[in-house]
Amino acid sequence: KYFSAAVIPGDGIGPEVMEVGMSLLQAIGDIHGGLSFEAESFPWNCRYYLQHGRMMPEDGLERLRPFDVILLGAIGAPGVPDHISVWELILPIRRSFQQYVNLRPIKLLRGLESPLRGKGHEHLDFVVVRENTEGEYSNMGGRLHVGTPYEMAMQNNVFTRYGTERIIRYAFELAQATGKTRLTAATKSNGINHSMPFWDEIVKEISLHYPNIQTSLIHIDALAAFFVSRPEAFDVVVASNLFGDILTDLGAAVVGGLGLAPSGNINPEKTYPSMFEPIHGSAPDIAGRGIANPIATIWSISMMLDHLGERELGRLVLDCIEEVLVEGKVRTPDIGGKATTQEMGKAILAQLYRR
Ligand code: NAI
Ligand code: MG
Repeated sequence: KYFSAAVIPGDGIGPEVMEVGMSLLQAIGDIHGGLSFEAESFPWNCRYYLQHGRMMPEDGLERLRPFDVILLGAIGAPGVPDHISVWELILPIRRSFQQYVNLRPIKLLRGLESPLRGKGHEHLDFVVVRENTEGEYSNMGGRLHVGTPYEMAMQNNVFTRYGTERIIRYAFELAQATGKTRLTAATKSNGINHSMPFWDEIVKEISLHYPNIQTSLIHIDALAAFFVSRPEAFDVVVASNLFGDILTDLGAAVVGGLGLAPSGNINPEKTYPSMFEPIHGSAPDIAGRGIANPIATIWSISMMLDHLGERELGRLVLDCIEEVLVEGKVRTPDIGGKATTQEMGKAILAQLYRR
């Protein structure tokens, strides 16, 4: 079998962690005779923007379209406003390829300890399903009376029935398929009085079709606190675009930090390529030093293998990450060691060849 991957290393630590990711794709071909990846790299990042005045060429999306999957490092550099780098590269890919599910596992890997250290926090393992195409990141709104004392900015939330139903249904289906019994939906229908009551209604409607799943709606502020005070209470959490964005960085912190946290931007129908990326950004504070943790990227590739139907291989990659962490000898600084990105990556690859 043969898969094609478009790779966008991006900015800052993106290319550093993606170098490890590319070696992993190579290694998978080596250990699994019947499977290979053809990877093509695209240099679209903030440097490209400064040269060309855009984050990707005009036909960028068309060029990505034929690939089975897309792998992204991270985008963003000082000198280019973040709303440009995000809105001109990442969001167009997510939206035009209908990657409406942003899947973000929150799982405490073997060998690591949660910074919460409390009782019952030893087996954290749940998943956040973030809506990825609409909601608060709507691009609708504007600014008026700029430069006057009456200046104002407005940004609309957009929740369509179609978009809301499909993400909530996906979350329920995921819970059912993975044998999970609890579904938590993030809301804020007390303060946001149009879109969030709509969201709640749809959660309740769809929950009727899943009588075996215990459904709860929790306000985002309380839910954020519960992520810290009782994170073991969750199986599947479904949230709008903004709420899911915030919750998952928090979730990552609860299980060891952004250096570990993977994600998939998924088009469940597989009409378009899905995109896998660490949830962290380009980390300008550590970029260029070769100390970024590549685990978030390696784990994202494990999710990519799952998506491609290679579940055993996906499992194997995650096992190898955990085995290296349990051994504890090679760790990057963010998880308490002194290893470089390359050393961390090599240790996991070596484990893969050993297995
Ligand atoms: P960030 O995720 O880049 O960094 C936050 C903190 O986590 C920093 O202290 C960083 O050193 C640390 N960190 C992140 N990844 C790490 C890794 N693999 N290993 C060790 N430590 C790691 O978020 P920040 O600082 O808010 O944003 C920096 C830039 O990245 C901005 O331009 C932002 O727009 C962009 N960004 C891009 C994303 C993407 O490409 N999907 C997502 C988030 C931010
Ligand atoms: Mg984020």
